[in-house]
Amino acid sequence: MREHRIVLLAGDGIGPEITSVTKNLLEAASKKHEFNLIFEEKPFGGAAIDAVGQPLPTDTLKACQASDAVLLAAIGNPRFDKNPRELRPESGLLELRAGLKLFANLRPVKVLPALINSSSLKAEFISNVDLMVVRELIGGIYFGQPKGRIKTDEQERAFNTMCYSSSEIDRISRIGFEIAKSRRGRLCSVDKANVLDVSHLWRERVTNMSKMFPDVELTHLYVDNAAMQLVKEPGQFDVILTSNLFGDILSDEAAMLTGSIGMLPSASLGSDGPGLFEPVHGSAPDIEGLDLANPIAMVLSAAMMLRLGLNENNAAHDLELAVEKVLDKGFRTADIFSKGSSKLGCKAMGEQLLEAL
Ligand code: IPM
Ligand code: MG
Repeated sequence: MREHRIVLLAGDGIGPEITSVTKNLLEAASKKHEFNLIFEEKPFGGAAIDAVGQPLPTDTLKACQASDAVLLAAIGNPRFDKNPRELRPESGLLELRAGLKLFANLRPVKVLPALINSSSLKAEFISNVDLMVVRELIGGIYFGQPKGRIKTDEQERAFNTMCYSSSEIDRISRIGFEIAKSRRGRLCSVDKANVLDVSHLWRERVTNMSKMFPDVELTHLYVDNAAMQLVKEPGQFDVILTSNLFGDILSDEAAMLTGSIGMLPSASLGSDGPGLFEPVHGSAPDIEGLDLANPIAMVLSAAMMLRLGLNENNAAHDLELAVEKVLDKGFRTADIFSKGSSKLGCKAMGEQLLEAL
């Protein structure tokens, strides 16, 4: 029987609640499609800071590196905001991405017909939204050196460096072109080449790469314009290729087109080794333990894991179908609730999903 080893990182806030729903569904899907999943749960993020004093314990990283795929719920809690940077949950996430060399972050944004009225934009502008943000994940200003703070007698100065090498740009843009080729064949590269040198190199390399993908139509947008176009006419986008910081910002903006960030999955991939699959949303500490969380983004992340990380396409499809079925029946968690539908808590939503599977 096929066997896959998955490290589960439940993390903080609503993390454990949505992890438990997702794990049940994965177990059911693996039985149905006759493969074995071996789960290993490891501390990560704020939970790991509390348990062992660091957000990414060595043991957790090693287990992730040795796995076939890593499934993460969410991390973060304002409790840690005053900690030094290396002792915050977010630093653990950045270390994990770097430790697994996950340079490509894929964030699909699709508006589900059942949820069209949850969006703050008019239905006519979002009904055709089906885009993918391809974000560079282990370079750019998040990791650039030098960085730091310098204190003099007069004042304090802080700085980060936004830098990319040609090879870093090439490997992420190749992924962007390949994904565009497998979709509708349109790639929009987003930069700030009218101001930044690093963007100038970015644009040059992406343009150069386009010669190898003659059937993909490449366009470029400055990031400010891209942010505007996303709310003005989001249906124009197929694949958006961009750097770490711009991708962070634009993917939140794009996510909100669907009405709830609680619906969106993501995959982070390297050139080999296990991928990391996680919802785009955060740990929502304000609703922790209240059974109010929406588990769908994590369930859809598990589907991405099955498809892109474990090559279990049928099981992936089944999970996605279960989500659609449950939404079509009118079941909603609080974040996507609208009049006329039936409101469910996280657990009950999990039960409906299991039944639909
Ligand atoms: C994301 C998050 C992270 C990021 C934070 C939690 C470090 O916002 O995955 O988009 O900035 O990359
Ligand atoms: Mg973000």
